Amino acid sequence: MTEQWRCAGHAGDLSEDSPLEFKFDDTEVGIYKVGDEIYAMENVCPHAYALLTQGFIDGDTVECPLHEAVFHIPTGKCLKEPGGRDLKMYSVRLAGEEIQIKVE
Ligand code: FES
Repeated sequence: MTEQWRCAGHAGDLSEDSPLEFKFDDTEVGIYKVGDEIYAMENVCPHAYALLTQGFIDGDTVECPLHEAVFHIPTGKCLKEPGGRDLKMYSVRLAGEEIQIKVE
């Protein structure tokens, strides 16, 4: 499958407290700002079904709103169970004010 960059939102809508949600095909992606960096991470918690963008952000981690698994936003690493596994990360870039995510 060919990879391509897709518009996933606008930088002005993103803040450290307010991640963005982006969906392509059947895939949900959460977009986070940590300091000056933007990260894009699989958004459905692997434990059951909850959107992590609706969880609780604490610095560079997000806690699942359902059963409190914790994930590291810059790497997707599961830091606290019951997350079950690490999350897939997506490449992200800025084109002017447009946030773009690489989908494959
Ligand atoms: S659904 Fe996320 S910890 Fe259970």
